Amino acid sequence: TGRCVVAVDGPSGSGKSTVSRRLAAGIGARYLDTGAMYRAITWAVLRSGVDLTDAESVAKVAGEVDLRIGTDPRGYGVTADGVNVDAEIRGPEVTGAVSAVAAVPAVRALLVARQRQMIVNAGRIVVEGRDIGSVVAPDADLKVYLTASEAARARRRSAEDAADVAATAADLARRDKLDSTRKADPLQQAPDAVELDTTELGIDEVVAKLRELLTERG
Ligand code: C5P
Repeated sequence: TGRCVVAVDGPSGSGKSTVSRRLAAGIGARYLDTGAMYRAITWAVLRSGVDLTDAESVAKVAGEVDLRIGTDPRGYGVTADGVNVDAEIRGPEVTGAVSAVAAVPAVRALLVARQRQMIVNAGRIVVEGRDIGSVVAPDADLKVYLTASEAARARRRSAEDAADVAATAADLARRDKLDSTRKADPLQQAPDAVELDTTELGIDEVVAKLRELLTERG
């Protein structure tokens, strides 16, 4: 059980979270949900009332939040300034604003540094996000890029949130566009990442495939 870092990237609804948590639990590793960190910062920015398009103010709020996140794949909590924000960071207000906050370079610099520190401390960890293989952990032992058809992604997300499929599809498309076209660390597949299309695969099949890839790499 030596050091092992697995980077899981991909667009929203590609199955990253479920797969990453199960993989981590299965191999006895920690788990880091970097999206939850961007969401918690966004929660604090919304609470502060600063203008979302004012990058300097957004960065200032981000720098002042006391953000804490657990790394237990069986259940982790997120707090911002001592407030548990697990439920609120999944709500429509945060989901609607997170891509704008995550596009601010100073916010990314701050969170990337924290993520790297957490990876070093954990040693064995599955990290999921948009820029893990490309920026946060370019030396990861395994890099995976999960994809799925737009229809499959919208179906999964709307089932999770008990929301309308058409509205979810529109929201995913909007976020993916913002996330992949921003200047700072956009969503992108690292050249050495293994791409896995999960459209026709069940969660167990994806997890099994990743475990196989890990074994192959020793
Ligand atoms: O994965 P999740 O949907 O929770 O991520 C929420 C948002 O956080 C993404 O749409 C993206 O804007 C941002 N994010 C990011 N980089 C990461 C993880 C998430 O920019 N590594």
